[in-house]
Amino acid sequence: MIQDLRLLTVFNLLGKPTLKAKVFTECGCFSASVPSGTSKGACEAVDLPPHKARKAFPQIRKGLIGRDEKDWLGVDSFLQETDGTGNFSRIGGNLALAVSLAVARAAKEGDLWKVNGKGTKAQFPVPVCNMIGGGKHGGLTRWQEFLVIPHRARSPAEAMKTLAEIWSAVGDELRSKGFLLGRNMENAWTSELDDARTLDFLSQVAHDWDTRLGVDFAASSLWSGKGYDMPGAAKPDAYFDAVMEAARKYKLFYLEDPFHENDFRAFSDLNAKLGRKALVVGDDLYCTMASRILEGTESKATNAAIIKPNQVGTLKQTTEAVEAARSKGMAIVPSHRSAETPDHWISDLAVTFDAPLIKIGLGDIPKYNRLIELWEEIAEVGMAKPPF
Ligand code: PGA
Ligand code: ZN
Repeated sequence: MIQDLRLLTVFNLLGKPTLKAKVFTECGCFSASVPSGTSKGACEAVDLPPHKARKAFPQIRKGLIGRDEKDWLGVDSFLQETDGTGNFSRIGGNLALAVSLAVARAAKEGDLWKVNGKGTKAQFPVPVCNMIGGGKHGGLTRWQEFLVIPHRARSPAEAMKTLAEIWSAVGDELRSKGFLLGRNMENAWTSELDDARTLDFLSQVAHDWDTRLGVDFAASSLWSGKGYDMPGAAKPDAYFDAVMEAARKYKLFYLEDPFHENDFRAFSDLNAKLGRKALVVGDDLYCTMASRILEGTESKATNAAIIKPNQVGTLKQTTEAVEAARSKGMAIVPSHRSAETPDHWISDLAVTFDAPLIKIGLGDIPKYNRLIELWEEIAEVGMAKPPF
C-alpha cells in the first residue's frame, strides 16, 4: 500500500531544476526523476517549470495515499483524470511521469524491468549513440544528430566499450585536423564540418569500426511552415531528394524525423522507398501517442517509433504507444532526452519492452551501466537482432 509520497526539486545533468518523486510502501522507498527535451514535438505533454508543477502535488499525494501500488495502471488513470486536460497542461507531464514511474518501481519493488511481465529472460537493445551533433543541441550542422550504432556488439558492455573508443577516436581526429569546436549538451562532438562533410567523415568511421550509421534530422526545427532551412534544398521536393541522396550515398541504416512533424505523406513516400532496408523512425511525428502511431501504421509512414515517456506523461500511455506500434509490426526505439538525469528507467523499459534499439547519449553513462547491470542480473540474456 502507498503510505506516503514526497516531491523533490533536484537538478538534471545540465544543472537545471527538475522533479524527483518518492513513494513509500511497506517494502521501502522507490523514486524516479524526470528529464526534459530541447527539440520537442508540438504534441508533447506539457513540461511545467518545477515550481509550477509542484502546486498540484498535494492533491496527487492525497489521492494516492492508501492505494495499492501494484495497481500502477489505476494510478496512471487517476493522474490523467486529475489533470483532465488531455496533455497534462494543468498538473504537468513532468509531475505525472515522476509519480507514475516511482509507483511502477514500487509495484515491482525496484525491478522496473519486470513491469511488462518479464521474469528470467530478456533481450537487450543495441544502443544508438549521438557522436557528432548540431541543430538545437548546439553545433554547426543543420541536421541534429549523427548517430553510430554498434550492431555487432555481443553485450551491453561491449557496445559501451566500442562507443567510448569511437567517441575518443572521433574527438582526436577532429582535433588533429583542426575541425573540433567542443561538445554539446548530449556530449556529442561539435565541429566546423557541415552536414555533408560530417557524413563523409562519419561514414568512414562507421566503415572502419564496422558499425551502422544514422541521422536524427529533427526536421521540424528546420521547417518554417513553407520550406526547410537547408541551403539549396529549401523546397519540400528538393529537401526530400536531399534526404534520399544522404540515405543512399552514406548507406544510412536509421533515419529519424527526416521531415517535419505533420508531413505523414513525405514519411510514407520515404518509407516506401527505403523501408525494406533502413529504419524510418518517427519521433516528433508521433510524440509517443498511440493515436498518432496508429495513424502512422495506417499510412505506413514509418517502420519504427521513438518511445519517450515524458512526451505523454505516464507509463500507462507509454505502454499503449508501444502496443500500438507492435500491433502493426513497427519497431520501437526507447530514447533518452537531451536534458537528462542520472535515473536509468529508460534502460529498464527498453528491456521490459524487448526493444531492438535504445537511444542514449554518451553524456549519460548511468543508462549504459544499468544495461550492463541487468545483463548480469537476468538469468537468460541475449542481444536483440536489429531489423535488416
Ligand atoms: P530532445 O530531442 O532534445 O527534445 O530530447 C532529441 C531528439 O530529437 O531525439
Ligand atoms: Zn529525435
